[in-house]
Amino acid sequence: MKETTGARESFGSKFGVIAATAGSAIGLGNIWRFPYVAGENGGGAFLLIYLGFILLIGIPVMLSEFVIGRAGQQNAFGSFRKLAPGKPWYLIGLMGVAAAFMILAFYTAVAGWTLEYIYQSLVNGFRGKSPAELELMFSDFQSGSFRPVLWFFVFMGLTAFIIMSGVKKGIEKSTKILMPLLLILLLIMAIRSVTLPGALEGIKFLFKPDFTKITTKSVLEALGQSFFSLSIGMGTLITYASYVPKDNNLGGTALSVATADTLIAILAGVAIFPAVFAFGIAPGSGAGLVYITLPNIFQQMAGGYFFSLLFFVLLGVAALTSTISVLEVIVAFFTEELGMKRKAATWTATALVSILGVMSALSWGALSGVQVFGQTIFGILDYASANILLPLGGFFIVLFVAWFFGRDNARAELGNNGSVRTGYLPFYIFIIRFIAPLCIAFIFLQGLGLIKV
Ligand code: TRP
Repeated sequence: MKETTGARESFGSKFGVIAATAGSAIGLGNIWRFPYVAGENGGGAFLLIYLGFILLIGIPVMLSEFVIGRAGQQNAFGSFRKLAPGKPWYLIGLMGVAAAFMILAFYTAVAGWTLEYIYQSLVNGFRGKSPAELELMFSDFQSGSFRPVLWFFVFMGLTAFIIMSGVKKGIEKSTKILMPLLLILLLIMAIRSVTLPGALEGIKFLFKPDFTKITTKSVLEALGQSFFSLSIGMGTLITYASYVPKDNNLGGTALSVATADTLIAILAGVAIFPAVFAFGIAPGSGAGLVYITLPNIFQQMAGGYFFSLLFFVLLGVAALTSTISVLEVIVAFFTEELGMKRKAATWTATALVSILGVMSALSWGALSGVQVFGQTIFGILDYASANILLPLGGFFIVLFVAWFFGRDNARAELGNNGSVRTGYLPFYIFIIRFIAPLCIAFIFLQGLGLIKV
């Protein structure tokens, strides 16, 4: 396989690779989306199914993206075209770029909420408020027409700024120190949360599976959440893997990233659900769940002012290392395929995303009456990207590696041409040939009600 050398940027060290990839994976998906979707789908049983999908399907899809990106040395579209010249596999890459637009739009809107909460932490805006007042405070903010849009633009601007200054500098550094710090802070919050009076209900909700609450739709949502959380199914990790040095052990990286990501999601659950029950909040409250729950915890903590400020700053950083990874998919495509300069590509992508982004940010305010398939614009972007586009992308990605790229090429890439052990290979190949595609297809068709078995 021909190698691109020289001009192409790459991540610096082994830890840099893990940091950047984990930075993409860890974000609002773990701390905002996981609790809210788990809450809507009954808790414990959903968690178990989600964990099963991470192991059985998520990690193999992640490995497949690594293989494609590092072998292809291009953006998501270009990597497919290079590895399969003249074949339509590059359409997966195009679908990924489309998904990137959708995800970035609603995700950045939620990231903007984090900025509002940094501001509120600073001015001590939560102080003395009851759980009901905190809930009102969030819904007032969310349904406004100015601040959600303002914060969207601030966050989008931050993302664009980092992307313009290049991959390596921007991403690695921030993740190395701040993600471990986020983990520690979450741990402290989890401890406070489980020691609240009435916390046990929340622990039961999260860890005691009740399968009567599971429908085919919740199984699809668990699959979608596992993909969303791992940043897989749309070429983010193909793009990142193209910057990964050839001596990196991809299997080890996938395992570390998936472990860290899952740990953070569970920890977020342990921080949120006991508090949800302790403060009498409905677990199925929807997209605002975390934002209405967390300030209550800080109120009950010594040093709450400090912790709340620190937490929302770290959450913002976690979100930023994720938005960067999504914008990079589009910008790498624009620069490598359309021949744009990095700066122009970033501006163009940012402007286009902003159209959908403003509509997302206004989904509880001025545009709350606009419905698409019975959901708000935000709702449909969130639902369709995670539960439709990512599973579809993942399906074709594993098929590509299993049946087109092939076992020998996959072994060469995963084993760095013989210098790294790949004892897991037969198992991995079996999963991507049969288990993963069949499971994804079945869950997808069932969940959308297209087949009934
Ligand atoms: N995984 C990130 C999170 O959990 C979000 C994200 C980044 C993402 N890149 C992605 C989701 C690609 C899906 C696809 O916050």
